[in-house]
Amino acid sequence: MGPIAVTQLLALISLTVALDNGLLKTPPMGWMAWERFRCDIDCSDDPENCISETLFRDMADRLAEDGWKELGYEYVIIDDCWMSRLRDEQGKLQPEPSRFPGGIGKLARYIHDRGLKLGIYADMGTHTCMGFPGTTLDKIELDAQTFASWGVDYLKFDSCYSNPLEQMLGYPLMSKALNATGRPIAYSCSWPVYVGGLPPAVNYSLLGEICHLWRNYYDIQDSWDSLQGIVEWFSNNQDDLQPASGPGRWNDPDMLIIGNFGLSVDQARSQMALWAIMAAPLIMSNDLRNLGNIERAILQNKVAIAINQDPLGIQGRRLLQEKSRIEVYWRPLSHSASALVFLSRRTDMPYLYHTSLAKLNYDAGNYEAYDVFTGSTVRGLNATSEFTLSINPSGVVMWYVYPEKDAVMILNLSEQPARVKKLTKTLLFHQQSIRGQP
Ligand code: GLA
Repeated sequence: MGPIAVTQLLALISLTVALDNGLLKTPPMGWMAWERFRCDIDCSDDPENCISETLFRDMADRLAEDGWKELGYEYVIIDDCWMSRLRDEQGKLQPEPSRFPGGIGKLARYIHDRGLKLGIYADMGTHTCMGFPGTTLDKIELDAQTFASWGVDYLKFDSCYSNPLEQMLGYPLMSKALNATGRPIAYSCSWPVYVGGLPPAVNYSLLGEICHLWRNYYDIQDSWDSLQGIVEWFSNNQDDLQPASGPGRWNDPDMLIIGNFGLSVDQARSQMALWAIMAAPLIMSNDLRNLGNIERAILQNKVAIAINQDPLGIQGRRLLQEKSRIEVYWRPLSHSASALVFLSRRTDMPYLYHTSLAKLNYDAGNYEAYDVFTGSTVRGLNATSEFTLSINPSGVVMWYVYPEKDAVMILNLSEQPARVKKLTKTLLFHQQSIRGQP
């Protein structure tokens, strides 16, 4: 490409209208088919689990009826393999009729009727990753209009089978096309993954203007190894990634796999805690029809959710990697509060970790800490007081920390259950005010 072509390209990109529809001031929450249900299109042998309107209706029912929606889990997101192998006579994308006989518009109404939102998947390229029709540059406007006409609320725009130049043109164009539909549609961009995830190849300021969230790194699989690899990459590159994130623009380390087959209970708590610290989208990919009570409680932990949804929207960081293979993560929160996660990367037995808040860069003063997964409160914590935590192998201890002087505001100092309730209420108040709920 010559210098003139590059200049023209840049001009085109700067003409792109920023995607400023006020969506996703806090990270999105919901459910997505991919990690758990992949490209299962065998509805004759596997009618309950194949990618079909039944699966999405089932998940919408669960989100609406099992207490998820009230916590903020609102998007039901279709991933790859929903399409017919061919576009229709007008060139429009269409769902595979045998699996989506009612069409996407009808499914959207079903989902909206339950107070939820619908997400869909498309691919900037000749084909989706699983070989279904892609969205080439000439089809971007048409596809954006089609999605809006169906009542879609969220687009995951992948990028298999395209080159970097097409991506550079296509992602801003889709942003503009979504804006032009007049329908507020959350826009999730997979662009960074396809160009290595890091600057200078990835321009995170541009992404923040055109997308609400973006996948930075490889797909999560149903294993602790995969999860650790993702956390490691995000932490190793936090100086580049952390500042890119904020209200309306989120890094996406991929789906929550809690409730599937690959994580122990401790590892499931670790994912919830680390995703909360990273201000990551809380998009589950599991079978909400068959979920263990412990996993459900982890995913529905109100304080972990409230930390994730903190209105300041500052992504947290890994603070420390100890020789003992204990790692400490920290996230600043509104009202002078903060969250700490102590993660054990050990594989032997619960580890006794000794530290103090001062060692973790806290200012002098008195604090209290609410243990997010046990529900107990540590009081009278001076920044310099040493404390000891027992951290399970591949598990976490997660603390919500606040200055003691704010305890009356934050906590009702009567008996324990009321206090916990009040804390949760306080945190959720921020979440609700952001979501515009009463
Ligand atoms: C890519 C994405 C995944 C999923 C698949 C679908 O691998 O990163 O999240 O959407 O494509 O084919």
